[in-house]
Amino acid sequence: MASVLVCGGGNAAQVVSCLFASRYKVTAISLYADEAERWDKAVKEAKGMTCNFQGTNKAVNSMPDLITKDPSAVKNCDVVLFTVPSSFHEQYFRALEPFVQKGTIFAVMPARSGCDFLFKKVMGEKADTLGLAAFETLPWACRFNDWGKTATVLGTKESISAAVVPPLGKSKLDVILKLQGLLGVEPKIVECPNVMSISLGNPGQVIHPGVTYGKWHSWDGKPLPQKPLFYHGVDTQTADVLEGISGDITAICKALKTLDPNFDCSEVKTIMEWYMASYSTSIADGSTLQKAMSTNSAYEGLCHPMKESGGGYVPDFQFRYLSEDVPTGLCFSRGVAELLNVKTPTIDKVLTWAQGKLSKEFLKDGKMNGKDIKDTRAPQAFGVTSKDMLCSFLRIKKEA
Ligand code: NAI
Repeated sequence: MASVLVCGGGNAAQVVSCLFASRYKVTAISLYADEAERWDKAVKEAKGMTCNFQGTNKAVNSMPDLITKDPSAVKNCDVVLFTVPSSFHEQYFRALEPFVQKGTIFAVMPARSGCDFLFKKVMGEKADTLGLAAFETLPWACRFNDWGKTATVLGTKESISAAVVPPLGKSKLDVILKLQGLLGVEPKIVECPNVMSISLGNPGQVIHPGVTYGKWHSWDGKPLPQKPLFYHGVDTQTADVLEGISGDITAICKALKTLDPNFDCSEVKTIMEWYMASYSTSIADGSTLQKAMSTNSAYEGLCHPMKESGGGYVPDFQFRYLSEDVPTGLCFSRGVAELLNVKTPTIDKVLTWAQGKLSKEFLKDGKMNGKDIKDTRAPQAFGVTSKDMLCSFLRIKKEA
């Protein structure tokens, strides 16, 4: 029987722990403050966890075998699931590294961008003996209801892409079959040709910083009487920003293809393609990106992250839409573009504005060498500072 280590303690970690514990041996680990202790107490109080499936009578009741903050628990696990926001991936990789056994598979959901650079940096020579599966997203939309006790799966994706780097001696198929066995029938894992495609195709880097910039870059600073809608409030100018970022990423894919015509970027979708592939049944009008976003029923009622202030609401720029998706998303793409001499006018505009709101310096004088670059997934943060170094990391044989 598979033995699984689930990392994190938020919505996703709680849902995964409950679903998988009904069939497998599950250890949940949270390194965040006293979260593991609080979660363990909550589960014991409730005599187990319950996960409901919205719109059905289905519910799963179960209890993880162990909830701990001790990273040595990884010794006894053959699959490690990262279901913690990507800003904390490095903390978990570092804590688990001393104890992890050969052949262990790390499934990172979602991987966001540059996960393979981080994995290699932290695991060093061990990396080749371990498996990495970088997922484009989480299999479920989910929220906890009563923290540590009950949670709800709002929806399960039909399919999700993953790029796999198997451990020495195993094939990609071995890894996919093992993970598919854990997930069950849905979602179906679709193999993506390389981790670079997951990194460049990361939709979070386009949508979250793009919509935030579109809404707030010329805000007058006055509190608003109510929270504005995040997706349904997208206007044509904001949709143009998203298409601009997406266009910059398409230009990066073209440059990779020029370097090596065999490098497969076919799975990197434009933002419009991604919307239509992910939400075709819930979009009422898919004639333009703006209409697709503002008529997507899956986004009903979702607002910009706001804080109460001055008798109204002001934007919370520290929310993960910027604090996660800029360093582990946009910075990666901008860094790759720089190494390939690709111009990224929209990414530059959004990144320059967003780093100001985060009080960080990633981009400096047009280069990814600001003082906070080490906190990002840009290749430059991992010492990859030339086209040749990037080609060597990607095992690309240069033709141009
Ligand atoms: P979440 O916001 O519920 O995660 C919170 C957890 O992050 C905390 O419980 C804690 O374990 C950890 N954490 C927070 N601050 C920390 C700190 N300072 N140091 C260390 N750990 C800290 O996130 P959620 O909803 O579980 O999502 C996980 C990932 O999946 C995110 O990247 C999210 O974008 C992505 N995702 C989530 C979806 C959902 O429906 N929940 C859907 C699609 C993607």
